[in-house]
Amino acid sequence: MKNTRRGFLSSCATLAATTGVPYFHSTPRTLADETQTKNGRFALGLIGAGGIAGANIGAARDWIDIVAIADVDSGRAAGFNAKHAGGKATVTDDYRRILERRDIDVIHVATPDHWHTKPVIEAMLAGKDVYCEKPLTLTIDEGKLIRKVQRETGRVVQVGTQQRSTFPLFVTAMALVAEGRLGRIKRVQAAIGAAPSCPAIPVAEPAKEFNWDRWLGPAPAVEYRFFQGPATTDKDGKEKKPQANTNGHNEFRWWYEYSGGKLTDWGAHHVDIAMWALALNGQTAGPTAIGGTAKHPVEFKDGMPVERDRYNTATEFLFTVDFPGDTQLVIRHDTDNGVLIEGDKGTIFVSRGKLTGAPVEALKDDPLPANAIAKVYRHMPMEGNERKAHWANFLQCVRSGTMPISDVHSHMQMLNVCHLAGISARLGRSLKWDAVTEQIVGDDQANAMLARPYRQGYEIEM
Ligand SMILES: NC(=O)c1ccc[n+]([C@@H]2O[C@H](COP(=O)([O-])OP(=O)(O)OC[C@H]3O[C@@H](n4cnc5c(N)ncnc54)[C@H](O)[C@@H]3O)[C@@H](O)[C@H]2O)c1
Repeated sequence: MKNTRRGFLSSCATLAATTGVPYFHSTPRTLADETQTKNGRFALGLIGAGGIAGANIGAARDWIDIVAIADVDSGRAAGFNAKHAGGKATVTDDYRRILERRDIDVIHVATPDHWHTKPVIEAMLAGKDVYCEKPLTLTIDEGKLIRKVQRETGRVVQVGTQQRSTFPLFVTAMALVAEGRLGRIKRVQAAIGAAPSCPAIPVAEPAKEFNWDRWLGPAPAVEYRFFQGPATTDKDGKEKKPQANTNGHNEFRWWYEYSGGKLTDWGAHHVDIAMWALALNGQTAGPTAIGGTAKHPVEFKDGMPVERDRYNTATEFLFTVDFPGDTQLVIRHDTDNGVLIEGDKGTIFVSRGKLTGAPVEALKDDPLPANAIAKVYRHMPMEGNERKAHWANFLQCVRSGTMPISDVHSHMQMLNVCHLAGISARLGRSLKWDAVTEQIVGDDQANAMLARPYRQGYEIEM
């Protein structure tokens, strides 16, 4: 551990992470504090210059300069450099060149899910603070590794679950829970939109700028697939962009080899809110069992898809997760995307568009106490733009060496639930979970799925 003020703060972070004792500023800081105390800009290295990186860099623009960009698709890296860095960033197809640089303060990891754990761990070991997109890992065991390295290095890692910084909607919902306005929570339901299926996708030649082998990285070596659907029109006759079906850019999320499908893609958002609510209500012990049903677009055998030429993640699902004390979390696919929090004194529904329910109505006559928001958020969240607020929170915590709102420890508690749902879906059976040892009870085949093999040359070295 570094022998500096920052090192001291980091050891506080370690203490908090290992004992569960919360640590945060005695006086909540606001975004205004952040801009006032700002004495310089952050030099940022970007790993993965795809769709979400553009939105994130746009949100953080007030505080960061992109000085280096890594992407295994050199066409994407060059386009990103021109659009977001005025062509001034250095560009590489090997992210390790960025981690070596001493002039870079923070790293943004925005690669597909199968390429999160390795660069995040290496970045922490290289002394960088990291904003990594959700879901943080592809497996439960990867989460154990990231948590261990975070404790040992004390680095600040924010996960890109920006719903945690959505004020007023999600943060007010959490304050209502924390203030006891719903009473004891008996059940939380996370409703997530369904995933797509597709016909067989033909093998194709990747573009010459696209290093497919390195894109696969730790995942098994397979051929690239791509099929561009026909142009379509919307209900007003306007031409829509043709749908690309592929196992690469953007559509990786429909393949268990690179993602957990909707269960982790959106589970990382809504199950996260559900688990945050349970934790604020005193339900800090992990789940004990998970069971339910899932429908896949292909046949599965021993937890693996039989056909390997089309999307394979669950298109429909309904899971119930049991917690001690007769508390349940339900994860289901539904069009009414959002989180329903059911307490013995009241129920609320919260989504990206609305916060409703009797306890919300009651706020007109009985508002929350002045410190209720800062109590759940630790700082004061910026109102309006949740992505910008989430970056502000990350950079505030980098400056102060404190735990961000989407820290790796709470993130993995909830992502374990999403990953367990995925394992249960793939095996087609219920699972019992020991949250203390983080093992599935009495099921060797399921336990083997807590980890994944890494392709030679892409192992995680620590
Ligand atoms: N927080 C949110 O709301 C949100 C929204 C969308 C996506 N995401 C997450 O962001 C991540 C990226 O999603 P996306 O939609 O931008 O995907 P994308 O496919 O558009 O972009 C990923 C980029 O990473 C690059 N890449 C892959 N391996 C790399 C490597 N080893 N080194 C450098 N670059 C590499 C790819 O070439 C690609 O350009 C995913 O984990 C996704 O879940 C989060």
